[in-house]
Amino acid sequence: MAQIKKANGIIDWLDQRLAVNKLFNVLMAQYWIPKQINFLWAMGVILTTLFSVLFISGLFLLMYYKPDVGLAFDSVNKTIMQEVEYGWLWRHMHGVAASVIFLIIYIHMLTGIYYGSYKRGREMIWVSGMLLFVVFSAEAFSGYMLPWGQMSFWAAQVITNLFGGIPFIGDELVIWIRGDFAVSDPTLTRFFMLHVCLLPVVILTIIAFHFYSLRIPHVNNEISEELDFDLEAEKYLAGDTKGSKVIPFWPGFLSKDFMYISFFMIFFFYLVSFNFDFAMDPINFEPANPLKTPAHIYPEWYFLWSYEVLRGFFFDIGSIKAFDIGLLAFGIAQIIFFLLPWLDRSDVVKPAHERPLFFIWFWILLIDMIILTIYGKLPPTGINAWIGFYASIVFLLLLLVILPIITIMERKRG
Ligand code: HEM
Repeated sequence: MAQIKKANGIIDWLDQRLAVNKLFNVLMAQYWIPKQINFLWAMGVILTTLFSVLFISGLFLLMYYKPDVGLAFDSVNKTIMQEVEYGWLWRHMHGVAASVIFLIIYIHMLTGIYYGSYKRGREMIWVSGMLLFVVFSAEAFSGYMLPWGQMSFWAAQVITNLFGGIPFIGDELVIWIRGDFAVSDPTLTRFFMLHVCLLPVVILTIIAFHFYSLRIPHVNNEISEELDFDLEAEKYLAGDTKGSKVIPFWPGFLSKDFMYISFFMIFFFYLVSFNFDFAMDPINFEPANPLKTPAHIYPEWYFLWSYEVLRGFFFDIGSIKAFDIGLLAFGIAQIIFFLLPWLDRSDVVKPAHERPLFFIWFWILLIDMIILTIYGKLPPTGINAWIGFYASIVFLLLLLVILPIITIMERKRG
């Protein structure tokens, strides 16, 4: 047993029992971050902040929400929005944070792609990040069902139907997921369980793993320079703080992040107070009605690109049905980014503007995903359907074929 002495303060008392000083050093004061990074490296901490906002506002909403098809709509639109004091504020915060978190996730992912932060020992950071993306998508989808409006119901109908396309077990699987033959009360209650219990626990676990996966390879930097972190840390600790290329996570990195978080929160509360509409579909202010299909069913903006890949293949090819081709393409779109560290065949780790072919590839991919997003919301008829088709083909080719080819060329050139 450790030697316990009379403590000279609360920190010393805790340190003797929990080694809090050592823990603080490992997690904060001696966790090293490169100096040469820009505001894009604040996105991870902004994501952590937004997740906390979602968690806290969710707890307040949970106090009044009723997971029952007869009560859910009114518990949100009447009780929370009109009767509970500041209920509207918590709901707007929750809705806006859910939408904005995807914008920041996409910026965070694109930063990783642009600077090659998924390579040279950083593969597990990337894979755990992608796991977060997938689980966040499930969290957003299950949350969207809870108000039990028209879009909640019909989105659930469309998405659960997709599982029907899986060979052999599809039909049984759809019934199992819905808990009934149709989307109904058991479907709502199980998605409620996922949204407020299972998925948040999974998200917290993966966030912890994502942070842990950063420990060994460390964070990348703006010029993608390979640093000797031990050597640079030694320099810093020896007093050469100017010459060292790293700073400690606390207070160096986090204090600067607080500034970015403050600017971001001003923008966030501006949206919550004055511009929250973009996060709430008007059709969802109508109660769910299984007998009335909305003219157009589309998901929230952050799922539109993959939804368009699903719809893009709108004609049968030989005996293969359009639905099956779309479903396969959609399945590939969901997992393709996981494979990025291996689809990129080059060992060059540099920012995209120093990799000419990759730079062009990056911008074409981004533009293509914006086109998919725009057309994902338009009715899939006439020219729209063809644009969706070609944009989906370009998306798949860019990742599956063009990326390996240009990165092999890059490696050969040295
Ligand atoms: C809510 C979800 C997420 C949280 C809270 C989060 C948090 C963080 C934090 C705090 C960092 C270190 C600082 C920084 O570079 O920003 C980081 C780095 C990183 N994250 Fe995430 N992240 C999330 C989602 C993702 C996703 C979806 C991906 C992509 C698949 C991803 C990929 C990465 C990569 C590659 C790095 C290393 C960046 C570098 O080395 O420069 N993360 N993340």
